[in-house]
Amino acid sequence: MKIIKKIAVALLLILVAMQFYRPEKNTAQGNHTAIFLTETNPPQEVKLILKNNCYDCHSSKTRYPWYNNIAPISYWLANHIKHGKEELNFSEWEGYSNKKKDHKLEEVVEVIEEGAMPLNEYTWTHSDAKLTENQKQLIIEWAKQSRVLYQLNQQPQ
Ligand code: HEC
Repeated sequence: MKIIKKIAVALLLILVAMQFYRPEKNTAQGNHTAIFLTETNPPQEVKLILKNNCYDCHSSKTRYPWYNNIAPISYWLANHIKHGKEELNFSEWEGYSNKKKDHKLEEVVEVIEEGAMPLNEYTWTHSDAKLTENQKQLIIEWAKQSRVLYQLNQQPQ
């Protein structure tokens, strides 16, 4: 079975070669979500939930697990982070209009109600990231309150 051996060697070489390419890391410094936190003023518990369960994919700073050093897992994680940030980046909150902020918070309520976030792939490896009913309620309440604020600001003077 020479051919199978050749294929196995080729695959191994590809896997080794992949290790040399490292996707760019998401590593903002300092208080990158300060504006978002000041504006929406989440209660301490919500702040912690967002930090521990959402910022890894929805801010400019990810706490990387050790296996991010292994390709192609690193590619896969980088892809999640890229798409997550495209949808919603709490570190770039100041760049959103009031209308967009309101809409993003509406989506937050939706994904939490549906149990769609954090992504399942994330809760497999971060078992404590699965939100309890009580945590969900707290996020939903806070997001709805913040929406009102942006809706009021949206009114013409
Ligand atoms: C492992 C990465 C990851 C984590 C952790 C994560 N998200 Fe996401 N999120 C994504 C990705 C990727 C998308 C875009 C694709 C999709 O909708 O599945 C997304 C999309 C969203 C959207 C937009 C949905 C829409 O309707 O388009 C919202 C809102 C959101 N996430 C909120 C959250 C909140 C709140 C948390 C924490 C409780 C969270 N996410 C945790 C990766 C993540």
